[in-house]
Amino acid sequence: MHGRVNSLDAFWMPFSNNRAFKEHPRLFVGAKDMHYVTPDGRQVIDGTSGLWCVNAGHCRAPIVEAIQRQAAEMDFGPSFHLGHPKAFELARRVADLFPEGIDHVFFCNSGSEAVDSALKIALAYQRAIGQGQRTRLIGRERGYHGVGFGGVSVGGMVANRRHWGPLLPGVDHLCHTHDPASGTFVRGQRESGADLADDLERLVGLHGDTIAAVIVEPMAGSTGVLVPPKGYLERLRAITSKHGILLIFDEVITGFGRLGAPTASAYFGVTPDLITCAKGLTNAAVPMGGVGVKGEVHDAILEAAPPGIDLFHGYTYSGHPLASAAGLATLDVYESEGLFDRARTHSRPFEDLVHGLKGLPHVIDIRNLGLVAGIELEPRPGAPGARAMEAFQKAYDTGLLLRVTGDIIALSPPLIAEPSHLTEIVERLADVLRTVA
Ligand SMILES: Cc1ncc(COP(=O)(O)O)c(C=O)c1O
Repeated sequence: MHGRVNSLDAFWMPFSNNRAFKEHPRLFVGAKDMHYVTPDGRQVIDGTSGLWCVNAGHCRAPIVEAIQRQAAEMDFGPSFHLGHPKAFELARRVADLFPEGIDHVFFCNSGSEAVDSALKIALAYQRAIGQGQRTRLIGRERGYHGVGFGGVSVGGMVANRRHWGPLLPGVDHLCHTHDPASGTFVRGQRESGADLADDLERLVGLHGDTIAAVIVEPMAGSTGVLVPPKGYLERLRAITSKHGILLIFDEVITGFGRLGAPTASAYFGVTPDLITCAKGLTNAAVPMGGVGVKGEVHDAILEAAPPGIDLFHGYTYSGHPLASAAGLATLDVYESEGLFDRARTHSRPFEDLVHGLKGLPHVIDIRNLGLVAGIELEPRPGAPGARAMEAFQKAYDTGLLLRVTGDIIALSPPLIAEPSHLTEIVERLADVLRTVA
């Protein structure tokens, strides 16, 4: 094996079928705006913004140049007891973009780290206000919060949980909100189901005043585009507030325009206590995550801390200069090109397009919100996931990048997509679906 320069063996790829990939690799070697480029020069239209993250499109000049300038000016600067201006500036800009009251930002390097950071901040807050018995963390079935032990513990994807032993103690889960029995092919939010939030009252009944925080994705992306029922998030907010429980929205996917608003919190008009983000924060050009924190949460922790360090948590690369530069340039692009408004404008025609896939072979449900759609296929008997994987491969072969989880195909095109791009993505997908066995 040693010395095989072109071997694919050494890279143990994440969340992948390594053996299958290495027999039939799918590589990208370039990207620009709406497209990837394969080694043989084929253009592949990006139906998923990379991995829900390249919201402003690929290799955008202002972002590329900002990173290049920063790399030459100052490559790294520690954030423990030291700082550099761009991290502070980015935190200010993110706080301004987030709902009123969320006015501090803790930086990390990924969505998973953002989730673990948010869970720790929630625990620190409860201790700081004299509620140290509140150590329980509540997630939701079918939730995805990354791959740290905290995120896996509050997450609700069986395949991601079952290999890793007992996980964090003191974690419980709300029931999920997906209910095909109440209707399929629903456009946007469905009317019924707000009362599913009352499941939290059940958990409060069980655990009393030991719950520190509840974390949910306002719209679950990675588990197959699960749109919250109307009124559900509002109800969750009311119940958490009533019982002194912090509410965390995991906006790693929904942050930065995906639903046609700066955040899902703004889109739904529900303000949580903490917001996790990553992905679109830097247009994925440099890894970065963050936690937006309400003033009262931040202030309580600082006020209760003895002289010295207030939060015993942080990463070598928190507020990394390259990521901060990329983040600032990304926010400029979102703003100057009005990309969040653009996503809102395009979400209705996109909804019409994707619901036009109804009736194609194996399609059993279609869900959508903002510039996101989930197309659910009937699983092959005895081979869950195989049908969607075939669609994924055929799409790649014919020039379209999809994302699949189980038998659900997710679309989340870059916010720069023109109507013609959206039409092309859905038409290419239709062609693929017509040929999938
Ligand atoms: C809602 C949510 N939280 C957390 C994560 C984890 O982010 P990362 O892969 O950057 O660690 C993801 C990734 O898709 C996500 O969708």
